[in-house]
Amino acid sequence: MKIQSDFLVIGSGIAGLAFALQAARHGTVAIVTKREVTESATNYAQGGIASVFSQDDTFDAHVEDTLVAGAGICHEDVVRMVVEEGPKVIRNLIEWGVQFTRSGEAFDLTREGGHSQRRILHADDVTGREIERALVAAARENPNIRIYEHHIAIDLITEAKVTRKRVAPNRCLGAHVLGIEDNVVRTFTAKITLLATGGAGKVYLYTCNPDVATGDGVAMAYRAGATIANMEFMQFHPTTLYHPHAKSFLISEAVRGEGAILRRRDGTAFMEKYHKLKDLAPRDIVARAIDNEMKTHGEDCVFLDITHKDPEYVRNRFPNIYQTCLEFGLDMTRDPLPVVPAAHYLCGGVAVDANGETDIRYLYAIGEAAFTGLHGANRLASNSLLEAAVYAGRAYQHAVEELRQNHFEFPVIPEWDSGTATDSDEMVVVSQNWDEIRRFMWNYVGIVRSDKRLERALRRIRLIQEEIEDYYWNFTVTSDLIELRNIATVAELIVKCALQRKESRGLHYTINYPERDDIHCRHDTFIKKQF
Ligand code: SIN
Repeated sequence: MKIQSDFLVIGSGIAGLAFALQAARHGTVAIVTKREVTESATNYAQGGIASVFSQDDTFDAHVEDTLVAGAGICHEDVVRMVVEEGPKVIRNLIEWGVQFTRSGEAFDLTREGGHSQRRILHADDVTGREIERALVAAARENPNIRIYEHHIAIDLITEAKVTRKRVAPNRCLGAHVLGIEDNVVRTFTAKITLLATGGAGKVYLYTCNPDVATGDGVAMAYRAGATIANMEFMQFHPTTLYHPHAKSFLISEAVRGEGAILRRRDGTAFMEKYHKLKDLAPRDIVARAIDNEMKTHGEDCVFLDITHKDPEYVRNRFPNIYQTCLEFGLDMTRDPLPVVPAAHYLCGGVAVDANGETDIRYLYAIGEAAFTGLHGANRLASNSLLEAAVYAGRAYQHAVEELRQNHFEFPVIPEWDSGTATDSDEMVVVSQNWDEIRRFMWNYVGIVRSDKRLERALRRIRLIQEEIEDYYWNFTVTSDLIELRNIATVAELIVKCALQRKESRGLHYTINYPERDDIHCRHDTFIKKQF
């Protein structure tokens, strides 16, 4: 079955929806999303979106904070562009109906780790949910946008693949997509394809990401021949709730922004030992400090303590976190919260230019799936929603210009061919490999790495990939199998990029090269599939 549109958007978080809402002014848009449309990482973002709105703040200060967090490899031109376009894209969000928390007429600005000023706009402690609510409502009302829920992209369709010829530059023509509820593979063709598939926290055993975060966009782009960059920089959020049933529920950095202190079980505050900004140090430093305290003192978790603040203020400022913790038997106004780090944000991704275009023509990637150069070796808190909104606008403008200037002719695109594949009677292969990847990624490729651990992980990935490929070609494709194949690819990319970086910088820390090496290693890590 073929479905044709001007724009194909894969993913339905802030990146995909903000692009779709603008693209719909110029043509038809198909949004493909794996679960319900709201099920994206955006929906779970608590902290907020960073932008310069305070009289005391400047673009220069926001640029400087981003560069410092990024540990020497942010692209300064990109940082400045994103920071300066911030206020404009925030106004777009407000026009689409997003309501940020205000203090009187002005925005109520909060602070997070690494920020020298209060510059985080938020909607209580459920900023992402409010953004998602407004953008989904606007998209649903738009007659040019059609949303395909419970549809998972299998692979991109490119000219090289369809014609079986080397074409330079290769061109993206759409994607093959599996309908999860009816098991039908549909061929979506489009003049412009956008990957807005979010991150890949599910590659790790412990993550605060939703289940959809399986790195699909990065894996598909890599398989199609696009360049991927800086995959070694997986950000671990320092504070997720440590509770057997909490599924690594995020305790926003804004809690520390409002004065919470990290303590060991015996009450000792420890961040002073690690950084002059103490509990508001950049995230890589806080996560590593917690990891070190836990390992040194043999403890399962540390504690985040905001009990010294007015309980009324805490309940009003963090209603969602307060309520969720209460459900787990913890009253954050009286009990320090047990917390541990967990995989949170992928700073690398599909390499794109200043317009969000990849090195496959008409294929764009924005949001967490993309590598733009903004985050360097460690993303500054709340810069991610900002980046997604800015690049949605830039990709839209560039794509529309491409549509105006070019005449699109498609080669014959064959329908999905499942060959002689049969239904599997051994789904245990999928669950076994899924668990194995996530566990060795956590143990060997986590907060602290070594060459030996990375090599071990790579050997295991190779074996698992052979098994997955065998399975993929012989059995009917399912969403579990597609996601497993994608996390295996992303795991391989993280390990290979990590092996290339012979130093410690930002989020990549290895005991073999514990120092930062600005002479040999002050650059990005690129990786591309060889055909
Ligand atoms: C948080 O609320 O701590 C997450 C914010 C972010 O990751 O940018």
